[in-house]
Amino acid sequence: MPSFRVELGANSHSVHVGSSMLEKIGELSRKAGLAAGPCAIITDENVARLYLEPAREALLQAGFKPLVIEIAAGEASKSLPTLHQIYDRLIEGGLNRRSSIFALGGGVVGDLAGFAAATFLRGVPLVQVPTTVVGQVDSALGGKTGVNYREVKNLLGAFYQPRLVIADVSLLASLPEREFREGLAEVIKYGAIMDEPMLSKIEDQMPSILGRNESVLEALVDRSLRHKASVVERDEREGNLRAILNFGHTVGHALEAATNFSHFLHGEAVAIGMVAAAGISARFAGLSAQEERRLHKLITKAGLPTELPAVVKTEEFTRALGLDKKRAGNGVEFILLSRLGAAVTSKLGFEEIMAQLG
Ligand SMILES: NC(=O)c1ccc[n+]([C@@H]2O[C@H](COP(=O)([O-])OP(=O)(O)OC[C@H]3O[C@@H](n4cnc5c(N)ncnc54)[C@H](O)[C@@H]3O)[C@@H](O)[C@H]2O)c1
Ligand SMILES: [Zn+2]
Repeated sequence: MPSFRVELGANSHSVHVGSSMLEKIGELSRKAGLAAGPCAIITDENVARLYLEPAREALLQAGFKPLVIEIAAGEASKSLPTLHQIYDRLIEGGLNRRSSIFALGGGVVGDLAGFAAATFLRGVPLVQVPTTVVGQVDSALGGKTGVNYREVKNLLGAFYQPRLVIADVSLLASLPEREFREGLAEVIKYGAIMDEPMLSKIEDQMPSILGRNESVLEALVDRSLRHKASVVERDEREGNLRAILNFGHTVGHALEAATNFSHFLHGEAVAIGMVAAAGISARFAGLSAQEERRLHKLITKAGLPTELPAVVKTEEFTRALGLDKKRAGNGVEFILLSRLGAAVTSKLGFEEIMAQLG
């Protein structure tokens, strides 16, 4: 069972990655110094059906008294009304400042429960128990929490570090295929921006990854989280360095926004965005044509889309990209690759970007 620490001064915490970890969440939490007694498990209906009982049992065994707060599955739950319901339940359940909140679910539960933990009684201990690939390789670590407001994603939120992250790769067995593959986009992203040997490994192991071999997933989640941790350790509150994690996301976000967040899953849009950014990198940042093809091929192998849809020709897309073609000199910060495994930032203008995308 790999485990490591994220070094963030007073906010430092442990990360555990492994299989069959759910049964250990109580014990690991007690070892991390969390108080037994009242606590809350925040989860969504799908995850509750599959994993609530073993999670509850593990906490009871370790002396916790869990209150269960179940929310509807889906992005719409990352909202103030759901947060209000959570606060009400926490108050009615008699939780105190030493009571922990366990976020058992994907990124939606993680962000929402994380924000509840950050704000309830000015902050109670938070344990992230991510159940999706996105959650396990990305959202559970780094301390970004929040809700959507007025149609804007993550408009309200806080940086709030968990006291513990427990990623159980066994839980990924039940994830629908599309959500599983979507998460691989973020995994490939870490290789592309900071770890070329990781890309070779993913290339070799793709059949086992897609077959959800637990020991292969364990190594992959562990390596991804260590990369995220190393970036967050150097830049906890998103100064410059943390921006490299947005590789593929500039175009990806614009694609999501221009299609009303209903056509692509986030990771699918990021996959297309990474291919586009690799093309731009070959033109402006020194990535070789061969490396560009290699990344493209790997993303295809993961079953992710790579083709820019017709929506890139629309005003919605360029607006979402933050570009205004009527304003000269108006550019966008792009994360590019100087080679596979090394990212650079570069400011590009409308003409340069659209020549590549359009
Ligand atoms: N805080 C961060 O740094 C960060 C990073 C990336 C994404 N996010 C946020 O994460 C959210 C997306 O997270 P997500 O992709 O995990 O989506 P999600 O939480 O909506 O989960 C996807 C679906 O899978 C289901 N599910 C979860 N685990 C399952 C399992 N083990 N088996 C079967 N079904 C399961 C859920 O019920 C849901 O229907 C977005 O709101 C995004 O903004 C945050
Ligand atoms: Zn992302």
